[in-house]
Amino acid sequence: MNRVSSATAHCQNKEMALFMQAAARAALTAGSIVRELYGKPHTIQMKGPINLVTESDLAAETAIIASLNEDAPGIAVLAEESADDNLKEPEGRVWVVDPLDGTTNFAHGLPLFAVSIALLDDGVPQVGVIYCPMQDELFTCCRGGGSWLDGREIRVTETRFLLESLVATGFPYDIYTYLDTILRQLKAVLPKVRDIRRCGAAAVDLAYVACGRLDGFWEMDLKPWDTAAGWLLVEEAGGKVTGFDGRPYSSFARKILASNGVLHSNLLELLS
Ligand code: IPD
Ligand code: CA
Ligand code: CA
Repeated sequence: MNRVSSATAHCQNKEMALFMQAAARAALTAGSIVRELYGKPHTIQMKGPINLVTESDLAAETAIIASLNEDAPGIAVLAEESADDNLKEPEGRVWVVDPLDGTTNFAHGLPLFAVSIALLDDGVPQVGVIYCPMQDELFTCCRGGGSWLDGREIRVTETRFLLESLVATGFPYDIYTYLDTILRQLKAVLPKVRDIRRCGAAAVDLAYVACGRLDGFWEMDLKPWDTAAGWLLVEEAGGKVTGFDGRPYSSFARKILASNGVLHSNLLELLS
């Protein structure tokens, strides 16, 4: 696959390069299914009062699992639509899959959503792939090999002042539990930055921090499939990812602050 050849050439070993190619093929396959279904009427089921699942989430997940099992057999898969409620950080290697991140955007015809696939090993991301089907943008990374957008290496911004920064956040489905904290955080951050975006897809937010379209992103109550690939993408692009307490991140920890690194302590201070 030409568009990942620069990225795979920078992977630290052949096995990881193969895993990155497997994740990229699965993401592109799922992305073309989602793109095809985007303009058609959707079958929507509710997972909660405002939490949707469409035919495309399910079709994309089935295609990703089949593709990964073909290219990288024997590795467990933790995928959003087939995961049980009892999430535990798995040992060893596991694919962590969000077949369609940004389902609400998708269902409303907003063309910003992504397929997100990561390979975790004992909780540590080794490979990350995020594919935005409507923009046809493929973000890839291998631990130690930098972050890539198609054939181009990407870096976080060098923005030094909050007032020059564009940051993003997201709102959890369980909004009532978090409403006060979210409003408090918005009140603290909004007057200090250039602006805040709510893009509607955490994987896209993280990919955009990695490639310098955003200077930072935070959200609470995210799941491992929302963040596992984007976490590595941001770090490999030179950025920083932690919880709200500044401690090392785990994709099972739910709260995430990702930034260009320079602004990290300023944002932590505002969020805490
Ligand atoms: C959601 C999106 C959204 C974020 C939510 C996520 P989904 O994922 O990433 O931006 O705010 O917290 O759950 O449900 O579209 O895969
Ligand atoms: Ca998601
Ligand atoms: Ca999803």
